[in-house]
Amino acid sequence: MEKEKTSVLVVDDIANTREDIKRLLYFEEDIIVVGEAGDGEEALRQVQELKPDVVLMDINMPGMDGIMATEAIFNSVPDTAIIIISIQGEPEYLKKAMAAGARDYLVKPLSSNELSETIRRVSYSCKTRASRLTAVSSTETKAEPAEPELPANRIIVIFSSKGGVGKTTLSCNLAVCLAQERRKKVALVDLNLQGGDVSVMLNLLPKGTIADLVKEEDGIEYSLINSFMAPHMSGLKILPAPLRPEEADVITSAHIVEILTMLKNHYDFIVVDTTPFFNDMTLSAMEIADDILLTFTRDLAAIKHVATDLEILETLALSDKVKLVLNRATLDYGIKINELEKRLNQAPAVILPYDEKTVLSSVNKGHPFVLTHHNTRIAQSIRSFSREFSIADKDGPAEAPVKKSFVAKLFSL
Ligand SMILES: Nc1ncnc2c1ncn2[C@@H]1O[C@H](COP(=O)(O)OP(=O)(O)O)[C@@H](O)[C@H]1O
Ligand SMILES: [Mg+2]
Repeated sequence: MEKEKTSVLVVDDIANTREDIKRLLYFEEDIIVVGEAGDGEEALRQVQELKPDVVLMDINMPGMDGIMATEAIFNSVPDTAIIIISIQGEPEYLKKAMAAGARDYLVKPLSSNELSETIRRVSYSCKTRASRLTAVSSTETKAEPAEPELPANRIIVIFSSKGGVGKTTLSCNLAVCLAQERRKKVALVDLNLQGGDVSVMLNLLPKGTIADLVKEEDGIEYSLINSFMAPHMSGLKILPAPLRPEEADVITSAHIVEILTMLKNHYDFIVVDTTPFFNDMTLSAMEIADDILLTFTRDLAAIKHVATDLEILETLALSDKVKLVLNRATLDYGIKINELEKRLNQAPAVILPYDEKTVLSSVNKGHPFVLTHHNTRIAQSIRSFSREFSIADKDGPAEAPVKKSFVAKLFSL
């Protein structure tokens, strides 16, 4: 049977732009443009009539603009996925558009690949969500609220016994990516209890911290944990570290296990940032984790640390869960690649390039670069890395990660 094509409606007030977009999709055999609209009202009418899988929506249009149209479509035809097409420098509009129900956004100029890949991805996640909802409602007679996502239930601990290698940078951006791009329910837990900076990196005002949570007298319940979690615009929820180091004294490893286990029952992914040393809290988290991302950089000190970390994890029978993340990689300095691979006995699962400009400006503004610098190599590396975790997700597309050699990975930076 021939696979159904993904139907697309193109919305832009400029006819030439609509033509450009149609041209970009012309050779995609599985995507078909079924209509176009020049403003928000017409878009809404067309969506109600054509019920396309995906709408490509411009923001600035006369009359009903792209944000109002997104909201109207999201409310009346929720199975249609909306992708916003924006120009550089519209972060405020983008936030509003995502809040209005858009599934993703792309920044002009568009490449054909980027456009078609995004259409496939959002339409896939929208369709599987819709079919799950139908399955749930046809088997359930009770008026229980349907849980739309079947959890993949994965705890990902990000660790290194060395500070400054990019653990928090990776934790925040990977978590945001899983939440926003892969539309998963994601919790980010800051277990850097003596000095966690996840809230700062994501520009959040904590409602409470993990220390406040464990001090609650009636015991820890899921609804209580949730009430302490700060929401991020990407959909991610954050359980922040204590605001002052001494507040961490009340937290035990039993608390950590209790909190993470409870979160695991309700979230698809739990990403855990950690302290730069082994302690019973970090170890407890690693014991119940599904993945341990050992992060390191290409200097001698960091490599020494990661080699020792690997030995320790091996002794603790935790090394099967380890994926190596090489951060701040450049071609022109550092230990030779083959020496590195020989020394660590395994190749990194991902290599993140050195990109001070992107990382620093994103940290200073409190905006994760996977959102604001979508097209940079570092953001793309994290995005494609995030897809590797969907392998464990039984409902994700059956895409095997392309296995690249270590050298090929480095040279594709
Ligand atoms: N790929 C990168 N390129 C450039 N700078 C980076 C990169 N990754 C992290 N940094 C910078 O390195 C510093 C340490 O990063 P951070 O995530 O706080 O590390 P950790 O949590 O391991 O202590 C930060 O100033 C961050 O901006
Ligand atoms: Mg950190």
